[in-house]
Amino acid sequence: MKKTPFPRQLSLATKAIHGSKLYAYKGPVSLPIYQTSTYRFDDSNDAMRYSHGDPDVLVYTRYHNPTTSEVEERLALMMNAEKALLFGSGMAAISSAVLSVVKAGDEIISTPGLYGGTYRFFRDILPRYDIHVKYMDPLRPESILDLASPRTKLVYFETPTNPTLGIVDIAAVVAATERAATRRQRILTMIDNTFASTLNQNPFAYGVDVIVESCTKYLGGHSDLLAGVVAGNRTFISGVHTQLKYYGGIADPFMSYLLYRSLKTFELRVQRQNENAMALAKFLEKHAKVSRVLYPGLRSHPQHTIAKRQMAGAVGNGYGGMVTIEVNGGVKAAVKVCDKLKVAINAMSLGGVETLVSIPVYSSHVNMTDDELDRHGVTPGMIRISVGVEGIDDLKNDFAQALR
Ligand SMILES: Cc1ncc(COP(=O)(O)O)c(C=O)c1O
Repeated sequence: MKKTPFPRQLSLATKAIHGSKLYAYKGPVSLPIYQTSTYRFDDSNDAMRYSHGDPDVLVYTRYHNPTTSEVEERLALMMNAEKALLFGSGMAAISSAVLSVVKAGDEIISTPGLYGGTYRFFRDILPRYDIHVKYMDPLRPESILDLASPRTKLVYFETPTNPTLGIVDIAAVVAATERAATRRQRILTMIDNTFASTLNQNPFAYGVDVIVESCTKYLGGHSDLLAGVVAGNRTFISGVHTQLKYYGGIADPFMSYLLYRSLKTFELRVQRQNENAMALAKFLEKHAKVSRVLYPGLRSHPQHTIAKRQMAGAVGNGYGGMVTIEVNGGVKAAVKVCDKLKVAINAMSLGGVETLVSIPVYSSHVNMTDDELDRHGVTPGMIRISVGVEGIDDLKNDFAQALR
């Protein structure tokens, strides 16, 4: 297949639409789906080449698939990574990436504001393997230096956090981690970039080692697929690929195709979500029945200055599509508002073109004690809004009637 050399300085949208192959010949515009579990060998020489470690021999879809590989290459380009690896869900990506770093006896330092699934994985699953997580003060990244021990192997964090939209200073986390590490003890930094997504935050620019992201959300963008990605350098991704093979959380070829299709409109969608979220946040901030609006783009957000640097400084020049509000009257009022909305859908996910709302104490943060909810900053009257791409006046009118 004839290729023209690919200039890496192309824009995010161009990379998402064309990948690394600016084809110079006739062929399908769209990506073929290799819906197959296994691959025909030309003859047994192929099997022998595979047994000698030749990576070009296709064998079995749990190891590799051309449709999935194309999407991985495209994601790596978009995320400015050497390599990316696709999984069947965000949690498959997160668990495999974490388990490729830590072993029994090791420690992780994290932030208390985490996606509930990740937090419960840290709380309930990792200790069974004698892997323990300590929590730093997200507003004082230098607390990493107090918490680090010779067993620390990983600093794992999220920003903005789910669902409170707290902002963690990425550069400060990287700097503190570098100071805590020694020549004999490497400590890796890993960020969950799901909430901001690649358009609104480029953690590699701040020296983060590994990005994990649930592609179920903004990258997929249509609430119709589950996927996750791990991005980093070649050596790291090769270690994660070993986990992928044995834990088996692979990306299905058809899902990979759906994601490929979504990437073509990623920038358009997320830019509109940035605009809608900012407009809706400003509107809700003035509403008498809303006691608090958490959105990193608002000046009232306690870490707005950091968000301005590390989010609005990225390609999208925005603050993402997630807005969290607190309504007067606690969980009963939150339930009432969610049930009255007509355009926004009462559903748990985020990042799709349709606006979704959920109540964190009944969704992402179930199965947590009052103390844990307190540490995560989650209150009963919170409603998390994943702002879609609908007409902004329809969204404002919908929230106005539901709050009324
Ligand atoms: C911030 C964040 N990270 C990770 C995940 C997990 O992704 P998935 O549901 O694709 O496994 C979620 C899911 O809601 C999330 O919100």
